Amino acid sequence: MSGEGAEAAQGGSPSKRAESLSGPPLRDLPGELGVKPSGRVHSPESLAEGPSGGPSGDAPVTDPVFSCQDVSVFYGAIQALKEVTIDIGRRQVLSCIGPSGCGKSTFLRCLNRMNDTIPGARVTGRIGLDGQDIYDRHTDVARLRARIGMVFQRPNPFPKSIYDNVAYGPRIHNLTRSRADLDELVFTSLQRAGLWREVKDRLSAPGTGLSGGQQQRLCIARTLAVEPEVILMDEPCSALDPIATAHIEDLIEQLRNSYAIVIVTHSMQQAARVSQRTAYFHLGRLVEVGPTDRVFTNPKHRLTEDYITGRFG
Ligand SMILES: Nc1ncnc2c1ncn2[C@@H]1O[C@H](COP(=O)(O)OP(=O)(O)O)[C@@H](O)[C@H]1O
Ligand SMILES: [Mg+2]
Repeated sequence: MSGEGAEAAQGGSPSKRAESLSGPPLRDLPGELGVKPSGRVHSPESLAEGPSGGPSGDAPVTDPVFSCQDVSVFYGAIQALKEVTIDIGRRQVLSCIGPSGCGKSTFLRCLNRMNDTIPGARVTGRIGLDGQDIYDRHTDVARLRARIGMVFQRPNPFPKSIYDNVAYGPRIHNLTRSRADLDELVFTSLQRAGLWREVKDRLSAPGTGLSGGQQQRLCIARTLAVEPEVILMDEPCSALDPIATAHIEDLIEQLRNSYAIVIVTHSMQQAARVSQRTAYFHLGRLVEVGPTDRVFTNPKHRLTEDYITGRFG
């Protein structure tokens, strides 16, 4: 028995411990884990060695939604992500932290094959979603991106009405049979995104006319409308004021009852507030992953400690 499993059972960050205990059922948590006694996923030496180092993650999650093995990403000759091995659990939030340029966005984009859209980008390794290799040539990438919703740093509503923004995905994926069904889906998506009350009287107004925080919730509603399994968020609050940020954080807390969420954040306070697990990346490597509580109070790796104590980054 090791570190992460035992700690995971204690639930997320100190500030959220009470909520976390009512979160993921304990029976879903792992028993015996193949984690090194130190809990380290990387020795400092292997980091210094470069890409030939050992595995960069653990597999402490039972029935993961995503299972990533030795995932590397190259932009031309530059390797931006180095042999990342990590599992992502269901109905919990994983936050990805680390200095700018360490590969957080690159990692996120692997999970829905967004890197495919970048010329010269190449992904190696294996990423299983519910056990299926997402890089298999038979994968329907459009369908995959519906299953793996993504929310970006800057809210990016389409230049369409609020209603049409949310209805867009269901329409292109033929998810509803009638206008009444579509109305219902738009309603539930806006409600789940915590936006319904604010927009119910102006569904035909342009989405771009909403405030920044509302636009970000509209983008989340648009993602929810295609019934994803996982929601990826790349610094979703970095363009928002503190009140809008608090709204999004509350929303993340609710959404994790239904979805796996992976959030990139440069705010360690935010990672501590919203996530149950935290992954620390450094120069393209996954240095450490574990329960947020543990990573912030007792990091196993010197690089993590330096970052969270502000000595680096
Ligand atoms: N489209 C791209 N083309 C070439 N290099 C890129 C591209 N996107 C990211 N990189 C490089 O990959 C590395 C990781 O970047 P990124 O994943 O954006 O880091 P982070 O999100 O942690 O700031 C950086 O060195 C960055 O310059
Ligand atoms: Mg980034």
